[in-house]
Amino acid sequence: MTTDLAPERRDTSANAPTKVAARVTDLVKTYGTGDTAVTALRGVSLDLNRREFTAIMGPSGSGKSTLMHCAAGLDSVTSGSVQLGDIELTTLKEKDLTKVRRDHIGFVFQSFNLIPTLSAEENILLPLSIAGRKPDRAWFDQVISTVGLADRLGHRPGELSGGQQQRVACARALVSRPEIIFADEPTGNLDSTSGAEVLGFLRRSVDEFGQTIVMVTHDPGAASWTDRVVFLADGKIVTELREPTPELILETMKNIDSNAKG
Ligand SMILES: Nc1ncnc2c1ncn2[C@@H]1O[C@H](COP(=O)(O)OP(=O)(O)OP(=O)(O)O)[C@@H](O)[C@H]1O
Ligand SMILES: [Mg+2]
Repeated sequence: MTTDLAPERRDTSANAPTKVAARVTDLVKTYGTGDTAVTALRGVSLDLNRREFTAIMGPSGSGKSTLMHCAAGLDSVTSGSVQLGDIELTTLKEKDLTKVRRDHIGFVFQSFNLIPTLSAEENILLPLSIAGRKPDRAWFDQVISTVGLADRLGHRPGELSGGQQQRVACARALVSRPEIIFADEPTGNLDSTSGAEVLGFLRRSVDEFGQTIVMVTHDPGAASWTDRVVFLADGKIVTELREPTPELILETMKNIDSNAKG
């Protein structure tokens, strides 16, 4: 898709030293110790390319959320490396990590995590105001019109539908122009119409703004909006698909299930 939107953003990406937004290498994550230890990730290596929409899929308990949390610097790793651009996250002190998360990473969660007493606009601008940064008004307006919320900005979350609330959460993630957005089942609480609205918005922010997005989902239909689907099973990457269709995704999920039972 060609578009004139946000050319300055495109230049930044084009001049970037690498096409990889985030890279995890030999990532191992064990929760707990001794008899009760659970190894959630057993050596995961993955490059997340700039300007790509990547889905992470896999059975419940396969390590999807753990991978996302470790890659986003929300959780410590047991061993291995996590790089965001050229910043190694695993060796950062908590204070620096907080700054990296705030300045370079966007998050969207299944439960929209909006502040109920704030308007949609205030929610969207909250991370910037916490960071003491001024919103770029032209960019804000562009995000708002893309997300289709221009006439809802004064509403509080309770006055919005689930899909609208999640679009507010997406706009909040996008407005600071993060290097990468991590979304953990962003459509998990939505009906299919609202889910499609949110997925359409995420897709457009990749195509039109050059945003990099990683999304965990259980839904083959949701994953088919992405460029690439990475499948986890039992804490390891087992396969991936490019230009995924719902049929191909479903077939791959069935194969993973039967191998696991095998
Ligand atoms: N804080 C924790 N303490 C102990 N074990 C954990 C913790 N978080 C996750 N686990 C375990 O790690 C494994 C992977 O969990 P994770 O949440 O990453 O799976 P998931 O693929 O996101 O599953 P789901 O699809 O159900 O969300 C599971 O066995 C889980 O029980
Ligand atoms: Mg999960």
